Amino acid sequence: MILAVETSCDDTCAAVVTRTGELRSSRIASQGVLHERYGGVVPEIASRRHLELIDAVTADALEVADVGLDEIEAVAVTSGPGLIGALLVGVSFAKGLAAARGLALVACDHLHGHVVASTLGPDPIEAPYLCLVASGGHTFLARVEHPASYEILGQTLDDAAGEAFDKGARLLGLGYPGGPEVDRLARSGDPRAFDFPRSAPGDGLDLSFSGLKTALLYRVRDLGETAARQRRADLAASYQRAVVDALAARTVAALDAEGLQRLAIGGGVAANSELRARLQSICDQRGVRLWAPPIELCTDNAAMIGAAARFTEPMPYPTYLSLDAAARPADEAQRPASGR
Ligand code: KG4
Ligand code: ZN
Repeated sequence: MILAVETSCDDTCAAVVTRTGELRSSRIASQGVLHERYGGVVPEIASRRHLELIDAVTADALEVADVGLDEIEAVAVTSGPGLIGALLVGVSFAKGLAAARGLALVACDHLHGHVVASTLGPDPIEAPYLCLVASGGHTFLARVEHPASYEILGQTLDDAAGEAFDKGARLLGLGYPGGPEVDRLARSGDPRAFDFPRSAPGDGLDLSFSGLKTALLYRVRDLGETAARQRRADLAASYQRAVVDALAARTVAALDAEGLQRLAIGGGVAANSELRARLQSICDQRGVRLWAPPIELCTDNAAMIGAAARFTEPMPYPTYLSLDAAARPADEAQRPASGR
């Protein structure tokens, strides 16, 4: 039984996962409302709020799982990448709890968590598979030969897909986080109303979203405030279509290049309804099976950290007492979860 904790950004999360990948509980205390008025996550506010919530969220995860602390064999925690102050709350908490109970600690990579979220539950994905991770901070395609590691095949050269949604939403005067707002508004708009660029940098599998964001900025300016507001749904639908087209094109290219029959998606943007529908139809046409986890396993959560912990070497006491949080992904050589 693994108790997992995740505090890399603005969600305070705890979960209980078994060694076999059964999900016993996953609790998420979102700080969304606290950051909304600033139009983005304020790191210092996030850290303080994690500190206030972590005890209760963890107790809640144990209670929902109907598991006592004495049944927990290891504590897993996100050690990076993310906001350093926010990460430190989870890491310190996990170290303290593990040390007090004499348990092992598993330091997990947040992105590894998104990559292996689909290995949880009654119908787990099996390697090898292709994984599209699209979140607020990262966007990449990875080949997973074994869930202990992943090889990045292509990634965004500038903005992450979630960032494109958040910045686009802001230009349209929508709230934060922008992805769900654009998703909702796009349903009543015409995705062909505006022509936005589908950038495909180079011949490989890399992506780029900064030009798209700039194109929206100019379009909104050209239209003027009143017209832009009136046509908000059309703008949102056309913009979302451009993001989805870019992600889908690279995913198809990666499936072909790698000859893989299984696709998993993860990260907050994997919650997008148009992306999910598009990838499902692409997979249906190609005889590829798609694992699109429930929304609460796509956006940040601790269950995926419990999943990553199943494939990460635990650290014994007292080795982990010197464990530090890392704001940025470690380089390829050090990263526990990459291309081994
Ligand atoms: O994985 P995540 O919860 O946190 C990070 O690791 O970054 O991803 C958050 C991102 C935000 O940019 C948010 O706008 C986006 O995921 N997002 C969505 C949707 N739900 C969340 N983007 C598009 N459509 C959605 N339905
Ligand atoms: Zn994430």
